[in-house]
Amino acid sequence: MNVLLTNIKELLQIRDASICILKGSEMKHLPTIKNAWLHIKNDTIADFGSMKEPPDGTFDKTIDCSGKIVLPSWCDSHTHIVYAGNREQEFVDRINGLSYQEIAEKGGGILNSAEKLQQTSEEDLFRQSAQRLEEVMKLGTGAIEIKSGYGLTTEAELKMLRVAKKLGQSYPVSVRTSFLGAHAVPKEFMNNKEGYVDLICNEMLPAVASENLADYVDVFCEDGYFSVEDTDKILTAASKYGLSPKIHVNQFNSIGGVAVGVKHNAITVDHLEIVSDDDIKELQQSNTLAVALPACSFFLSIPYTPGRALIDAGIPLALATDFNPGSSPTGNMNFVVAAACIKMNLTPEEAINAATLNAAHAMGLSQSHGSITKGKKANLIITKEIPSYGFLPYSFGSNCIDQVICNGEIL
Ligand code: NIG
Ligand code: FE
Repeated sequence: MNVLLTNIKELLQIRDASICILKGSEMKHLPTIKNAWLHIKNDTIADFGSMKEPPDGTFDKTIDCSGKIVLPSWCDSHTHIVYAGNREQEFVDRINGLSYQEIAEKGGGILNSAEKLQQTSEEDLFRQSAQRLEEVMKLGTGAIEIKSGYGLTTEAELKMLRVAKKLGQSYPVSVRTSFLGAHAVPKEFMNNKEGYVDLICNEMLPAVASENLADYVDVFCEDGYFSVEDTDKILTAASKYGLSPKIHVNQFNSIGGVAVGVKHNAITVDHLEIVSDDDIKELQQSNTLAVALPACSFFLSIPYTPGRALIDAGIPLALATDFNPGSSPTGNMNFVVAAACIKMNLTPEEAINAATLNAAHAMGLSQSHGSITKGKKANLIITKEIPSYGFLPYSFGSNCIDQVICNGEIL
């Protein structure tokens, strides 16, 4: 199938294949071509250029993009979209004064989701999760990372990861998976966290690896969840199976999660709502990306990741939704990009770079995703007629998307 997009008002994020991550001030620049065309062959970007030099050849379909902007699809490098049911009662409890942590201490939170998930069949879990995936694909997400972590038993963690893998096989979107057995200490291990960490290392990790269900390992490194020592132990065990870390750190407290992530050469450290000067120094001396999750800050009314300071310190930043039932029940990357501009002081160029190229890198997909580059996947957002790309974050809450193309398929 040969598809030609013509008269594109502005084609964003044109990159040479050698550029796969943008650090600090490199994020300020967003290369574009005005009045452009783009040729899709099967699932791939075959070529693109200026309408002043139109392409030769015959095409099966031509899409006129007059007045519209075209950009690479969003890459969402941090989600928990495989979950059962919802937690809207906890949302109301928070409005009535309880904190996220108080709800968790009363057995709500992650343990509430785990109980629901354990009682849900694999087929039903797939059906519920597929609905969320279809929704975010229409919102322009073309690659997504999905975590386990609401199973908390070997069987239920494997069930989650199988569902995540099956989603990737059933839809054109690219899926990467992370094993997050260390998301919370289950009730049965309430007074024996060490026993649960041993179960993760000695039973869950080998099982996940033998079925080849995960690309990464994740840990919720936070007071009341898993300590730096627990995290170190789990990351050490995971490295034997070739799983590199992508970890939850500094959501509520800076306890050394960044340093332990950097020590294990984590591909990303995510959340970072609370960041110390030492955390910034650790990141500056590493290859680790910082991932900010502003929809979580919005929903929980907690501080926003200091994205401006991280970029100004020369650190590569990516943006993701954290789509999950407790702290961010949305998978809308358009909102995340807007929130990064409005609440974290990123420019539209920085936010778009953080949600495309850096976000692809944050899940090991920068060779195939995240930019308009010959040979990369034809994962594209065609906007409605809008005045400029700055209008995308400016008009937050409006849907500016006209059409989405996912791995060459027009959705
Ligand atoms: O990334 N912080 C840890 N995990 C999720 C939320 C989990 C939940 O509340 O269900 C997060 O925010
Ligand atoms: Fe998360």
